[in-house]
Amino acid sequence: MNILGIETSCDETAAAVVTGDGTILSNVVRSQLEEHAPYGGIVPEIAARAHVSSLEPIVTRAMDLAKLKFDDLDAIAATGGPGLIGGVIVGVMTAKAIASAKKLPFMAINHLEGHALTARLTDGIEFPYLMLLVSGGHTQLLAVKGVSDYQRLGTTIDDAVGEAFDKTAKMLGLEYPGGPAVEKAAAEGSAGRFSLPRPLKGRDGCDFSFSGLKTAVRTVIQNLPPGALKESDIADICAEFQTAVADVICDRAAQAISTFKQTFPAGNTLVVAGGVAANSAIKTALTGLSEAKNMRFIAPPAALCTDNAAMIAWAAAERLKMGLTDNLDFAPRPRWPLDQKAPPAPFAGVKA
Ligand code: KG4
Ligand code: ZN
Repeated sequence: MNILGIETSCDETAAAVVTGDGTILSNVVRSQLEEHAPYGGIVPEIAARAHVSSLEPIVTRAMDLAKLKFDDLDAIAATGGPGLIGGVIVGVMTAKAIASAKKLPFMAINHLEGHALTARLTDGIEFPYLMLLVSGGHTQLLAVKGVSDYQRLGTTIDDAVGEAFDKTAKMLGLEYPGGPAVEKAAAEGSAGRFSLPRPLKGRDGCDFSFSGLKTAVRTVIQNLPPGALKESDIADICAEFQTAVADVICDRAAQAISTFKQTFPAGNTLVVAGGVAANSAIKTALTGLSEAKNMRFIAPPAALCTDNAAMIAWAAAERLKMGLTDNLDFAPRPRWPLDQKAPPAPFAGVKA
């Protein structure tokens, strides 16, 4: 089984070919970082236009690297949501066009399901497992019970954690994207010189909140003498911020592990995904937590943790094996929760 996957829901234009047994034949990603950097964040209109101009050559490259023709494929899959709708439309329309010209099944994949099933591609793990998704667009804890079968245990009720990194970086005059910049600065600083809150730490449930942490960073900066934000201040604020985020993530994940184990006593795997999972301090904290809680900890390689199309092709392979395909009248979805029964979080919008 050979599946072409296409990912265009945010600021990466990506195409990949993956086989039914989980061999990645090609995995091409073009980041739009340079286009968005001058604005300090993703501009949806620029993203959609960049997908239009780069998707066709990227699909061609993915097919060439896989040494396959369209006729060798068993299905064409594209991210159908959630995401920036202009970009999602570009990927979905392209996949539909190839599928209809080649008379192949079309598959609309939930981007979050792509992240959720990646650990089965990289590590072949069995259901059920606990998943922590920490990206620029989402912060969620989910029980992954099967393909298409998710239970949300916790979500951010306002900002996503990656967004908090990006906004903190912007306030400190660091480059975009903020996560890697904050991590680099934090390596030169010490936590504890400044004091930041740990929102929701110690509370019941598994939800997250990051908007108060962002506001607290602004207050710390404003309380410094005017015009005197030194490099050592930036480093110390970043170190404290990163420690606060790691503390909160571990506290919420510990709660989720308890809840998960009540329902699935045999479940013993914690999987992390999303761009923030590239952060070493957070990964180290989660490794320690997993050891303490007798959980196996899986962090797929960074290239498969951040947005890519191999995860879309793989999720499609898992669905195709179950006989699940989609129709050409599928409408791209800006919001598409994995757990349809979970209540919306009013201040998190599409992030919940
Ligand atoms: O999963 P991703 O590539 O894209 C989506 O948001 O779907 O995640 C991007 C986010 C950005 O907010 C970025 O600042 C953050 O992941 N990020 C990091 C690190 N690398 C990327 N955050 C903290 N530490 C990092 N090393
Ligand atoms: Zn993502």
